[in-house]
Amino acid sequence: MRDGAVMVTGGAGYIGSHAVLALLDAGWRVVVVDNLVTGFDWAVDRRARLVVANVADDEKVRDAIREHGVTAIMHFAGSVVVPESVSDPLKYYRNNTAASRSLIESAVSEGVKHFIFSSTAATYGVPEVVPVREDSPQLPINPYGMSKLMTEHMLRDVAAAHPLNFAALRYFNVAGADPQGRSGQSTAGATHLIKIAAEAATGKRGHVSVFGTDFATRDGTGVRDYIHVSDLAAAHVDALDLLLAEPGKSHFLNAGYGRGYSVLEVLDAVDRVTNMKIERRMEGRRAGDPDELVSDNRAILEALPWRPKYDDLDRIVTDALSWERHLASRQ
Ligand code: UFG
Repeated sequence: MRDGAVMVTGGAGYIGSHAVLALLDAGWRVVVVDNLVTGFDWAVDRRARLVVANVADDEKVRDAIREHGVTAIMHFAGSVVVPESVSDPLKYYRNNTAASRSLIESAVSEGVKHFIFSSTAATYGVPEVVPVREDSPQLPINPYGMSKLMTEHMLRDVAAAHPLNFAALRYFNVAGADPQGRSGQSTAGATHLIKIAAEAATGKRGHVSVFGTDFATRDGTGVRDYIHVSDLAAAHVDALDLLLAEPGKSHFLNAGYGRGYSVLEVLDAVDRVTNMKIERRMEGRRAGDPDELVSDNRAILEALPWRPKYDDLDRIVTDALSWERHLASRQ
């Protein structure tokens, strides 16, 4: 067992619940703070403690930090739907930016010295150069990306003023599910391609829409860098070790595999894995979709001992499908 405990906000959600598993498996004590608005209490591993609270509820958060001896915070809680951020930007500036501000202040006032933040490739907007490096211009094209970028800036300023270091991991397209079947993406109203394709494969929907066939890519459909959620979770555990080892240093790191797949290539993988032919409907572009978003991941590979274990599209799809079937059997 490691010294101290890790507070995981959003630990009842998709990526957070996988981080909880990775931390527990690595011997950490874990306390989850989640308001259960989009998360599920059953998604929190029983070995962790669950505090049902908003991360901006200073009293509950600070009590939990003291009671459990929290020495580091992993902050996943927030709102994540890009189109919703366009129609309701203030929700994103409240749930992502303002809530993060409160949480960071709680960390500083309670003497928590390490902070890992769930940032996003959406902070880059439409990158001019792909693969995208961490020092590329950050020009978000939606309030979601801006709300996360503002939190990156707060962390940078706070780390310069207080004894706290941080790692902001900029996620590319997170997909898949725990290979042991303990968690997966469960929130209703999915918009993410692999989740939608898995729903189609299990009969929850009749077809998959392909949004745009005229992008400047090899087959005209959008190219993304899909990363398995359990690899991403493992990167957080290694990032925490790095923060502990080098207290004066903070990091902005892309979290991706550095390789892109088109929408059609993803759907081919789903057909291959399921031995089905899922109906594809070619449709117009969604607003704001870049042609290609692929990480340059040299920095994370250099900074961390982390090496992806599931860097394989068929594996990602297989695990997403297993979880989808599990969800279907629960209903
Ligand atoms: N797509 C389809 N059909 C669908 C869903 C998606 O063709 O039903 C396409 C999209 O147009 C895109 C690709 O599949 O080309 C991936 O789309 P997702 O919605 O799965 O993911 P995004 O790349 O749009 O979004 C991801 C993260 C966001 C983040 C964004 C930008 O999920 O949180 O990258 O970094 F903001």
